[in-house]
Amino acid sequence: MSRRRFLAEPYGAYRQAVLPPPDDYLTRVGPGTPAGEYLRRFWHPVAQSAMLKDLPVAIRILGEDLVIFRDRSARIGLLHRHCAHRGTSLEFGKIEERGIRCCYHGWQFDVDGALIDTPAEPEGNPYKGKLYHGAYPTVEDSGLIFAYFGPPEKKPPFRRFASYEAPGARLGLAEHIGGNVKPCNWLQIMDNVADPVHEAYLHAQISGPQFLNDDGEPLVALGISGKDDYWESPNGILCNEARRVGGFVWVRSLEYMCPNVIQLCKAPHFPLEESNSDEWETPTVLTRWRVPIDDEHTIEFGYIYAYASDTRPYFNKVWPADLSNAGGRPYETMQRDPGDYEAQVSQGPITRHATEHLATSDRGLALMRRMVREGIEAVARGEDPRALARDGQPLKVAARETVWRIPEGPTPQDDEALLRKLSRTVAERSLGKLPA
Ligand code: FES
Ligand SMILES: [Fe+2]
Repeated sequence: MSRRRFLAEPYGAYRQAVLPPPDDYLTRVGPGTPAGEYLRRFWHPVAQSAMLKDLPVAIRILGEDLVIFRDRSARIGLLHRHCAHRGTSLEFGKIEERGIRCCYHGWQFDVDGALIDTPAEPEGNPYKGKLYHGAYPTVEDSGLIFAYFGPPEKKPPFRRFASYEAPGARLGLAEHIGGNVKPCNWLQIMDNVADPVHEAYLHAQISGPQFLNDDGEPLVALGISGKDDYWESPNGILCNEARRVGGFVWVRSLEYMCPNVIQLCKAPHFPLEESNSDEWETPTVLTRWRVPIDDEHTIEFGYIYAYASDTRPYFNKVWPADLSNAGGRPYETMQRDPGDYEAQVSQGPITRHATEHLATSDRGLALMRRMVREGIEAVARGEDPRALARDGQPLKVAARETVWRIPEGPTPQDDEALLRKLSRTVAERSLGKLPA
């Protein structure tokens, strides 16, 4: 893919009026596409448990039209949406004791796709009891329903995250019922994960501090002078930002987990002067998946964690959904207070990488795209990609926030060296090279 050069002349837009195409290799998600096959090797959340009531729900995931339901025996079915008989949508079907029955001629499919009734056909017909409609396996866990879309013989065990079991952790859903839909490609939402610099700018400078505490005060004193640093972790990338806040150093370490998960911690509440300790740390407070609906739409599902044992007000309750990450706000509000939603969606339905001019602050993004590319290539070779383990053990999580009470170095250079050293300490602890 040839990249477009930065213009070297004023008023030169005419030379760039023709847009290069998107990067199909990394962005397309439909069946048979490179990234689509890669994504199909992992379990993804596709619905919240609370979405499944007495009617089937039409959903679209990875470019496939599906219907999801809980049958009257409480089993979950995830089937191709169009009936195997003549294509009527099963979203209009009737939920049965076993599976779902199509509204048109009554063909009934079990949750594994088995065709178990064909009322208008003679006994002994070639379909009933012999054939299957397309179905995907599901697992329900902590309020979300996960599905696996890959080849049945490659299905990995479903894995929980070790962070769910942190002492005192309580999981709540991060999104309102129905998930958070963004009308754009999945990869540009993931680009945002490996980009800690945007937090200091978008969330703290451009529209004033977002992420306020219960009293409406900024949670963080983000300056754009943070020192960013990236570390490969077994499952993805640790994206660190270290910054000086008065007599403290704060290292924010969020994790990109292949292929489409973010793990992050809650920003500390300043001022910290009240704190007695010289060092403290917060564990994960958010696990969020970005699941492609199709090439140009993505849905977010995830967990917010609260810690009953932590008495600080921001840590012992589940946050409300972050409005600046969702659409539907009045246009003027979006303009005055743009958040992740506006930044990501306004890049266009699929970001055109050839028009970008990546800079030093994009090192994390470049590393993440490289990992996606490596994952695609591993799958193409018939291998398991990174973060796909078959031992069934919980996924280790490396995201953490650490704050030290530590005086400024004698010179700005000394202080920067100190910040980088502390950032490295956090990464090495997370990667198990230093005791936590
Ligand atoms: S189209 Fe579904 S039973 Fe005929
Ligand atoms: Fe953000």
